[in-house]
Amino acid sequence: LIKAVIFDLDGVIISTDEYHYLAWKRLADETGLYFDRNMNSALRGVSRLESLNIILSRQGRQMSETDKLQLTDKKNSYYKEYLEHLTPASLTEDTANALTSLRKHGYLLAIGSSSKNARLILDRIGCGTYFDVVVDGNDIKRSKPDPEVFELAAKHLGVFPENCIVAEDSEAGIEAAATCGMRTAAVGYAAKIRCGDWNFDKLSELAKKIV
Ligand code: BG6
Ligand code: MG
Repeated sequence: LIKAVIFDLDGVIISTDEYHYLAWKRLADETGLYFDRNMNSALRGVSRLESLNIILSRQGRQMSETDKLQLTDKKNSYYKEYLEHLTPASLTEDTANALTSLRKHGYLLAIGSSSKNARLILDRIGCGTYFDVVVDGNDIKRSKPDPEVFELAAKHLGVFPENCIVAEDSEAGIEAAATCGMRTAAVGYAAKIRCGDWNFDKLSELAKKIV
């Protein structure tokens, strides 16, 4: 029995993929690192530091932990500049309708995101009030594909993992949810490669399936 829906934020509720891409690209150009959209795809659902580690390892570069911290801070300040473009109008009607319908039918709703900017993003798009629980990159030690973020969200909601369905756009996120025994609904990129138990074009299809 599904009692709760846990949503990844980025790429599911709102897509800031392009902002991540622009911020990493700007940093890479300044630092003499290679970065392209393909690499950006591999960073979905992965923490900031882990993302930099992937970028560095792909070009056999090494860096001190202090330098890494400085670079991830810089990337984040660029990313936050781009986030200024988000407004409540950025939330699609389809997503707003799906969230409203799920709440109306008594589902508990949560956010389970690797991002440390999740609360800022939710504020900017004006949809914090839809969710009973928000767990993000500030609350966890291990980012997706580790299941920590989803396990914590279920715990805060007071439901068992088997009573949750996770909506995700990243492979790492689908893996994380499956690892802790949650059902998975893939959207976006993850749906394209059909890695969810269910694969949807948009969130209203998920809502229709379970209400
Ligand atoms: C995820 C994104 O939501 O958050 C990743 O899909 C990103 O691309 C990760 O790296 C960490 O985000 P932030 O905002 O904490 O740097
Ligand atoms: Mg995502």
